[in-house]
Amino acid sequence: MKNTPWTPSPAQLLLIKLGMVGLCLLPLAPLFGDLGPNPPEFVSRHTGTWTFNLLLLTLLVSPLRAWTGLHWLLRLRRSLGLLTFFYALLHFAAFALFEHELEVRAMAADILERPFIAVGFVAFLLLIPLALTSSNRAIARLGGRRWQELHRSIYLIGILSALHYLWLTKITAYYYPLTYSILLALLLAWRVGERLKKASSPAPGFRGGAQTIRFFKEKP
Ligand code: HEM
Repeated sequence: MKNTPWTPSPAQLLLIKLGMVGLCLLPLAPLFGDLGPNPPEFVSRHTGTWTFNLLLLTLLVSPLRAWTGLHWLLRLRRSLGLLTFFYALLHFAAFALFEHELEVRAMAADILERPFIAVGFVAFLLLIPLALTSSNRAIARLGGRRWQELHRSIYLIGILSALHYLWLTKITAYYYPLTYSILLALLLAWRVGERLKKASSPAPGFRGGAQTIRFFKEKP
């Protein structure tokens, strides 16, 4: 008999989601403790690191689902995306509040003067439409295909985040940003591999130009 992978009931899925959200909020705890000798730097770094961690976790859902056959994992992806945005918002708030005391002109000047901040800022701006369209209602309004196309900007957001992290780091401390960039590259490479696989094994009835369109339109 073929083993069918375990699928949670709606109530179990809700519990899993709540547990996951609870776990993902645990990294906030250190922000309420001893912030060390330079609190603004600690808060900025901590929230930046967790924005990237959650971004990678969000991107991990699709390959994990493909490897395990647990299709319900996809139901966790939007919550992880929203948590990524939540940490990015805290990270931006730390910058706005601690570095510039909410002065818009000073913030704008800093973003324009320091390219690594500009890159992080663009990544943050690109996250906003994704967060705003994460509800079921938004998916219904946009239509599945347009929603998927919009949400593909997560790949660009990942690349900008890696650039932001690599750029701000001193040459001697590349270990972490490089590790994050390599993990991101692996997650993006998996998607390219899936697309190539689909493109080279056309579904019956798809040929030539239609196949090329499929390559760009289908989601791994
Ligand atoms: C998706 C968006 C973003 C991600 C993933 C991200 C990620 C990171 C990471 C991983 C760090 C380094 C943490 C460390 O050194 O351990 C960092 C630092 C930093 N980020 Fe971001 N960031 C993002 C957006 C932004 C935005 C919007 C701004 C401000 C406009 C910003 C400003 C900074 C600054 C100033 C630092 C240096 C903190 C310090 O060393 O004191 N980032 N970010």
